[in-house]
Amino acid sequence: MTNAPVKKVPIHLQSSQNRLLIKNGKVVNDDGMEDLDVYIEDGIIKQVGRNLIIPGGTRTIDATGKLVMPGGIDPHTHLELEMMGAKTADDFYKGTRAAVAGGTTTVIDFVLPQKNQSLLEAYSNWRQLADGKVCCDYGLHVGVTWWSPSVKKEMQQLTTEQYGVNSFKMFMAYKDAWMLDDYDLSCAIETCAELKALPMVHAENGHIIARNTEKLLAAGVTGPEGHQLSRDEEVEGEAVNRACVIANQARSPLYIVHMMSKSAVRMLQLARTRQRQPLFGETLAATVGSDGSQYRNSCFRHAAAHVLSPPLRPDPSTPQAMCEALADDHLQLIGSDNCTFLEKDKELGKDNFSKIPNGVNGVEDRMAILWQKAVNTGIMDPCRFVAVTSSTAAKIFNIWPQKGRVAVNSDADIVVWDPRLERTISAATHKQAVDFNIFEGQQVVGSPQFVIVGGRVCLDDGELRVAEGFGKFLKTPTNSPAVFGGEAGAAEPQPELLHLHMPHKVTNGTPSPDFGNMNKSMEGLSVSGCSTPTGRKMREPGQRDLQTSTFSISKEVEGLDTKTSVRVRNPPGGKSSGLW
Ligand code: URP
Ligand code: ZN
Ligand code: ZN
Repeated sequence: MTNAPVKKVPIHLQSSQNRLLIKNGKVVNDDGMEDLDVYIEDGIIKQVGRNLIIPGGTRTIDATGKLVMPGGIDPHTHLELEMMGAKTADDFYKGTRAAVAGGTTTVIDFVLPQKNQSLLEAYSNWRQLADGKVCCDYGLHVGVTWWSPSVKKEMQQLTTEQYGVNSFKMFMAYKDAWMLDDYDLSCAIETCAELKALPMVHAENGHIIARNTEKLLAAGVTGPEGHQLSRDEEVEGEAVNRACVIANQARSPLYIVHMMSKSAVRMLQLARTRQRQPLFGETLAATVGSDGSQYRNSCFRHAAAHVLSPPLRPDPSTPQAMCEALADDHLQLIGSDNCTFLEKDKELGKDNFSKIPNGVNGVEDRMAILWQKAVNTGIMDPCRFVAVTSSTAAKIFNIWPQKGRVAVNSDADIVVWDPRLERTISAATHKQAVDFNIFEGQQVVGSPQFVIVGGRVCLDDGELRVAEGFGKFLKTPTNSPAVFGGEAGAAEPQPELLHLHMPHKVTNGTPSPDFGNMNKSMEGLSVSGCSTPTGRKMREPGQRDLQTSTFSISKEVEGLDTKTSVRVRNPPGGKSSGLW
């Protein structure tokens, strides 16, 4: 990349020389929580412990009664994307500013080339859009929206150190735009496997959607409810299964983005019972915090604002089921798929639902929504919350423990979370550029009080003080140990040691995995064993039952005097339980 980022931040703000002490808080990582102070210098966590010896002139943040967590990592955003004839309202400045306001300190956005466009050219365009604007660090996935030998070559180039990409997204929907057929999808996934890069798939059957759309429009169904009717759960579930089969044929791991339905989760679970390679499932803040009844709203503006793909589901038990799937490790992480369009742009589909630009907000509210729906309800404990909002993404995309962990030598990307802070989500007060919020009017208890990005206090006791261009592009190296096993960069990675989802031994003649070695190779790296894989089922004897109504996150934090350290299943550094 020859285009040096244009930094708008004054040099004194870029240097992150500030010294910062976060005192008296409860540090929460994905594998445990403990009362510890955190000392930061030059953008890096330098000390974690008690009675730290700190240089004079250090700013102290008193985190009494607060949780000190790794900043969120949103693995799925679309900032400054042009799609379906419109451009997203959130650009890289406003989108990352909103992310920081909500406690997210890293986003991973998608480069989406046009058909026949060079992937390298599209990547370069994205870097030019983002580098000078981002308020926090960001990485890039690249879309494979068409197939040819040149695409394969460019995928290889993108995975080199120069470009720093380790994940590619393929679409099974958006027929006549980004969709690949199964042959091209197979080629793309095989290429990912060769490169030790992670294939990501948008799983919906694009042909069925196209046919259903024709039928609905012919029958006079033109409103936003047609969007949901054209692509029901089965249409998503079928594609999840097909994507898993294609990945299995390619002997490749797979990451399924924006899983929106119970059917999709079921198909993923089923695939895990037969497949050897890891299968990762991501869901969205939208499906945890909203539901498909919104499409029946008589106001076009309201209904259209909820149009995204796959759609929100009419089954009212879906949001809770998705929280439980995250808690139970049936799903591994939560993104936002932030892809916001103004009302005027949603109106492109006023007379034809298939022309409504697809996408919703979430980058700002993802953390608070999940906290409210899953932690405050006792479905998930704070460690698992950290896993699904931050650490697991860091592990999968190979930026752990630089990101996703409060520990010595990790980046000082930290959120000081106030579990008692009450607020009502509204477009009137949100930081996003969009004129609608799909979580409008929802009350949440628990939000960031301070957000530290690279050692810089960017949310300061509720005051947003980001700096445009302060964030850096984050290279994501291939061969992530959490995906492919072995040591990062090892010459001979051993994916066969990584049968995270395999309930039974291999029957095709391949030697059975050595489970002892597997645990060893995954030490500190396993996605499944990294935390309380389920806040409910993995309780240690005597550990509080989060399902009982007596659990209170406020009490957890108040209980500082009596119970200063809560250890969950695995010690810091991680101990894999091996199997999911
Ligand atoms: O509706 C959505 N999800 N919009 C963004 C593009 C995509 O498919 O991720
Ligand atoms: Zn998608
Ligand atoms: Zn998306």
